[in-house]
Amino acid sequence: MRLFGQSIIAAALFGGAFIGLAAKADTAVERGLKVVREHCTRCHVVPGINPYGGIGSTPSFSAMKWLDDWAYRFEIFYILPPHPSLVRIEGVSEPRSDALPAFSKEIILTLEDVDDILAFVKTLKTPE
Ligand code: HEC
Repeated sequence: MRLFGQSIIAAALFGGAFIGLAAKADTAVERGLKVVREHCTRCHVVPGINPYGGIGSTPSFSAMKWLDDWAYRFEIFYILPPHPSLVRIEGVSEPRSDALPAFSKEIILTLEDVDDILAFVKTLKTPE
């Protein structure tokens, strides 16, 4: 009986640890989706997040996948206009120059976030 009780406790502990691990381990794709949802959908249309949102003049993420070098563009998007004035990468970008227009909120990301965004965009289908 005692042994039985112990194994239930052990199973509960093990199960708890397992669930804890599963809940913590967001994949790169999931992290990328969160970054994109929070920071990019203000301007870009992203399938599965805001198919009717975005700003008309801004390319949709799936349309960009028509370009052969789309992945490269996503790796360096923060140095391509108009992003330098609104996105800063920790440890990479210079502090924002006073000469640039002030936006209400600067987007501050890490290089890992940039990798995660790329992992997420890889999962988007190219439009038919
Ligand atoms: C303030 C609006 C705005 C936000 C926010 C924004 N973008 Fe953009 N993005 C643009 C516009 C406008 C263009 C088109 C630029 C052009 O045509 O030269 C663009 C173009 C791009 C391109 C293609 C660049 C090129 O020159 O080929 C990529 C990649 C990109 N954005 C990624 C992102 C990612 C990732 C985020 C979120 C972290 C983001 N953008 C947030 C406005 C925005």
